Formats: sequence, structure tokens, C-alpha cells
Amino acid sequence: MYSRITGTGSYLPQKVLTNHDLERMVDTSHDWIVSRTGIEERHIAADDESTSDLALHASRRAIEAAGIDPQQIDLIIVGTTTPDRMFPSTACLLQDKLGIKSGGPAFDIQAVCSGFVYALSTADQFIRGGQSKCALVVGAETMSRIVDWTDRNTCVLFGDGAGAVILQASETEGIISTHLHADGGYKDLLAVEGGGCGVNRAGTPHMVMDGTAVFKFAVGVLDSIVEETLSANGMQKSDIDWLVPHQANVRIIQATAKKLGLPMERVVLTVNAHGNTSAASIPLALDTAVREGKIKRGETILMEGVGGGFTWGSVLLRW
Ligand code: ACO
Repeated sequence: MYSRITGTGSYLPQKVLTNHDLERMVDTSHDWIVSRTGIEERHIAADDESTSDLALHASRRAIEAAGIDPQQIDLIIVGTTTPDRMFPSTACLLQDKLGIKSGGPAFDIQAVCSGFVYALSTADQFIRGGQSKCALVVGAETMSRIVDWTDRNTCVLFGDGAGAVILQASETEGIISTHLHADGGYKDLLAVEGGGCGVNRAGTPHMVMDGTAVFKFAVGVLDSIVEETLSANGMQKSDIDWLVPHQANVRIIQATAKKLGLPMERVVLTVNAHGNTSAASIPLALDTAVREGKIKRGETILMEGVGGGFTWGSVLLRW
């Protein structure tokens, strides 16, 4: 028994914040942001929109694309680092908004920008283990709520959005393998220290980041996850048709594409228009490519992500 993606959906809030808008907020320039990151604009949630609302829109589109009845969904996993509430989980809030009464498990996964690969890998285990037949797997974020809009080092990088997939039990091969890692020794490279329940709960509720160290770390672990994924499956670089990477920075993505020997035409790139939407970036990119008709059934896709923790991982699948 395999698990296979049968539908994708995504949602971006209406409000667009361009680099030129940011020039009026902090000491930066459109050219600096584009040359260092590839980002031109990002979407920002409205005051009355929460992560679960973004997730709801993306989920409805994925459900429609898969052609299923929402009541078939027996597992909901939401990758998010910006949940609506401390609890209940965003997945439970989403289950209620979708009116799903199946009683299947619903929970969030916190792996920051690796949230979607962690969530998809977990759903794959549930399906292969026979505990679930039809999973809704979502990456959804309102990063704008944890960004310090006076800090040019971070505020130019992030955006809001959501992406979702329906993952179903299938006799046809879908997900081939998943590979997850973490190293908490790097906890301070990228963090929001305040706002939790720790002794630092009165600390800053905003993101702090050592950008140069994050860049180096990301390129290194993504190189090794590519090697690990290929060798675990006895595959060559040339077996990969598409790279659907976490969208943090075009230079990090180019480094992974080079490692794979893939031309940039075979890399799904949305960071220019979405910024870094953390756990939402991979399913947003996947849905964009699917709806543009780029990815064809039977093609082999490598997804990879890296984020705070530090966490990193990959999902290899046949479309
Ligand atoms: N506008 C203008 N100048 C800026 C800005 C800005 N928005 N932000 C920082 N700078 C300045 C810095 O203050 C620094 O100035 P200084 O040298 O006087 O101290 C200088 O620019 C640094 O410039 P560079 O060394 O050329 O910057 P670099 O090439 O390292 O790019 C960047 C910086 C974009 C942050 C890069 O390191 C990066 O992308 N890192 C990865 C960060 C990331 O992706 N985080 C996301 C979360 S984790 C993940 O998703 C993988």
C-alpha cells in the first residue's frame, strides 16, 4: 500500500506588500532584496484572517481538486509555526471549519520551515500503517504576525499563505521515501524566544535570525539530504524530474539545483512572488506548478525543506 497525492490547493491573502512598500518602512531597497533573496513581493493576511482561515481556503481547493467528500478525511495534519491559539491546535480548528465529523485525529506539527515535509512524512506513515485512508495535509502560516516590521534583517524575507494536499491510500506508487532530521544544537540561529510557556515567555515575541549562519547551514544540510534521498532509493540525479524546494531564498534553491544537476526550468520557483511562507511554501509551490500544468503524472518530484530547530527533510514521490 502506498500513499499518493490526489489533489492540491493553495491560498494567498489579497494584500500584496512589494519591496517598494518596504523601502518606505525600513532602510532597504528593492535591488538589495532581489539580489540577495530573489523576493519581489509577498502576501500579508488581513487583520481578520488567521492561519486556520488561510488553511481553510487552501483545503477546500485541494478537496475539490481530489474530488472527494470532506467527510472521507480521516486525518488532518497542519504544519504551522504561527497557530491561531496556544490550543486547540490549528488542525482541530480547521476540522471544525470544514465541518468534518469523521472523528479522525487532527494535530499540528511544529518544524518551522520544514513543517510541510514533516507533516507529509507523518501522514504517509499513517497511511502505510493502515491507520488512515484519506489525509488532509496542510502548511499554513501568518509569518507577518511574528516578524518585527522594524528589523530589515528579517522583515523583507517572509510572507503569509497556505497550501494543502489530499493524500490517499493507493495501490499506485506515490510517496517513495521520506527523510527527516533535526539538530536542536542550532536552536538559537533562528528563533522566537518569547510568547511561549518557558522562563523566557516575556522575551521578544518576534523572530531573531543569524542570516549568514542560516544560509550556510541550509545549503550544507540540503546538499546532504539530496545525497541521502538518492542513495536510499538507488537513484541517479538524472532520475529527478522536478525539484519543489522550500522557498526561502533563490540562492539557496540554486545551490540545491546545482547539486542535483537540474536546470532552473525544472525547479518550481515561487519565492519571487510569495517570499518565505515557512511551512506553506512547498505546498504553495506544488499547487502553483500543478495548476500551471507543469508537473505531469509519472514524473519524479523531490521536495526538500530546512527551518528553525534546526530541522530539515525531504520527500521523494512519483506524481
Ligand atoms: N536591506 C539592506 N541591507 C540589509 C538588509 C536589507 N533588508 N538586511 C540586512 N542588510 C545589511 C546587513 O545589515 C549587513 O550590513 P553590514 O555588513 O553593514 O552589517 C549586510 O546587509 C549584509 O549583506 P550581505 O553579507 O551581502 O548579505 P547576505 O548575502 O548574507 O544576505 C540574507 C543576507 C538575505 C539574510 C542571507 O544571509 C539569507 O538569505 N540567509 C538565509 C536566511 C533565511 O532564509 N531565513 C529564513 C528562515 S530559515 C529557512 O527558511 C532556510
